[in-house]
Amino acid sequence: MSASFRNTRYRQAHQGVATPAGGIATFSSPEVARPGAPTATLTPARLPIGPLLPVVGGNLAAPLAGGRTARAVNLDYAASAPALQAVADHVAEVLPYYASVHRGAGYASQVSTALYESARQTVGAFVGARPGDLTIFTRNTTDALNLLAHAVPADGEVIVLDAEHHANLLPWTSRPHRLIPTAGTIADTVAALEAALAERPAALVTVTGCSNVTGEILPIAEIARIAHAHGARIAVDGAQLVPHRKVDIAALDVDYLAFSGHKIYAPFGSGVLIGRSDWLDAAPPHQAGGGAVRSVNAEGQADWTTGVARHEGGTPNVVGAAALAAACRAIAELPEDAIEEHEAALSARLLEGLTQIPGVRVLRAWSDSTDRVGVVGFTIEGHEAARVAVYLSAEHGVGVRDGKFCAHPLLNRLGVTGGALRASLGLGSRSEDVERLVHAVRTLVTDGEKLDYELIDGAWAPVNDDRPAPSWSTWGATNPVDKGSECGF
Ligand SMILES: Cc1ncc(COP(=O)(O)O)c(C=O)c1O
Repeated sequence: MSASFRNTRYRQAHQGVATPAGGIATFSSPEVARPGAPTATLTPARLPIGPLLPVVGGNLAAPLAGGRTARAVNLDYAASAPALQAVADHVAEVLPYYASVHRGAGYASQVSTALYESARQTVGAFVGARPGDLTIFTRNTTDALNLLAHAVPADGEVIVLDAEHHANLLPWTSRPHRLIPTAGTIADTVAALEAALAERPAALVTVTGCSNVTGEILPIAEIARIAHAHGARIAVDGAQLVPHRKVDIAALDVDYLAFSGHKIYAPFGSGVLIGRSDWLDAAPPHQAGGGAVRSVNAEGQADWTTGVARHEGGTPNVVGAAALAAACRAIAELPEDAIEEHEAALSARLLEGLTQIPGVRVLRAWSDSTDRVGVVGFTIEGHEAARVAVYLSAEHGVGVRDGKFCAHPLLNRLGVTGGALRASLGLGSRSEDVERLVHAVRTLVTDGEKLDYELIDGAWAPVNDDRPAPSWSTWGATNPVDKGSECGF
């Protein structure tokens, strides 16, 4: 860890003495027993690790089945990360000024418009956007990649890896594309991409920066170099990479980057597509409507504008954009490598703990990968992932993701047909979170579940689940949670 802590908030938070972040309810000391070595045997490597930055809900109390409570352990950052306290504070600060963007002459409208446009500058600069690049606000990564899919010249082929999240797979399948099977090593996968490009030119190679299943990072600069050498552009799905690593598209020579606010501590409905303007200026508008046109004639024919406005039809999400910019600012203020080191320390404990438990298999897509973020997919022999996830929540207050993580081809290739579990870390994570999960999995494997579980409408739930929900929530009435689609399976 860098010796020069540039800001006090960071230092306080990382030492675990930050002001508890606001939440619906808070819990100050863990009620669930913490496993591991007794205090007297703590080595420096075993010292407690606190959150890197305060997050909203970091001390939320979770009810356990049977009437107890515990601080909710959120190990599901890869799905949606909690808001940074700095983001929530900024949103509260700007809300009184909320008014229409780009449309009003009133004071609040002018302030909101400036806020929206400065957020665009901040977010673009955060990832190294070049002069001339467009930074288009979208709903999320899925929206951004769908936008791009309609902007690639119609006759251009797109090369896609089958290890992608569905968001970077399905938008491409309805247009000319080639799906490249992922090899067992990164070296062979990159070679397969190169061979595909050498066989026939393509307009675009689109890859994830980091697997949402295994946390393994792909060599983006190398893939960009290969794509460009063959006359193709490169798009990076940064949904999992940008929250964890410094990404500079100019330095990496990446043409397009997409990521989501809700995965980078700004859950206010904004995502972003950043990149070269020429295809985007020539593409059909992403959302036809007000704001995207210069003029419309009596027959309803539009003269579409160019630039970001072409793809931001309708009233923009100024709060979402401001929140995303606030998250970028807070992260940019951290000392260099702070996120990487925080996550590496927690990931090492998580991987060490999980791999010592009999029957646990940590998922890995590439045998030669050397770099990963704090996203760990795993299975437990003889235990159904969906049921384990419910057990972890009901008996230990631990939230993880289970299913096929919207990456069915990759899970199938890894031989995980019934779904897996995924623990993911972030800025608010602490060593106690990791210890709670490892303890819970070890207890499951050695002693089994304490409660009885039943399938209700195809989903596991504790029998007679008595966990209360906030008064405004319908959760208690609708247990078990409706996952909404097949995506989780
Ligand atoms: C690698 C990756 N790409 C894309 C997405 C889609 O993100 P969103 O749901 O915010 O559109 C996800 C979401 O989990 C992801 O992990």
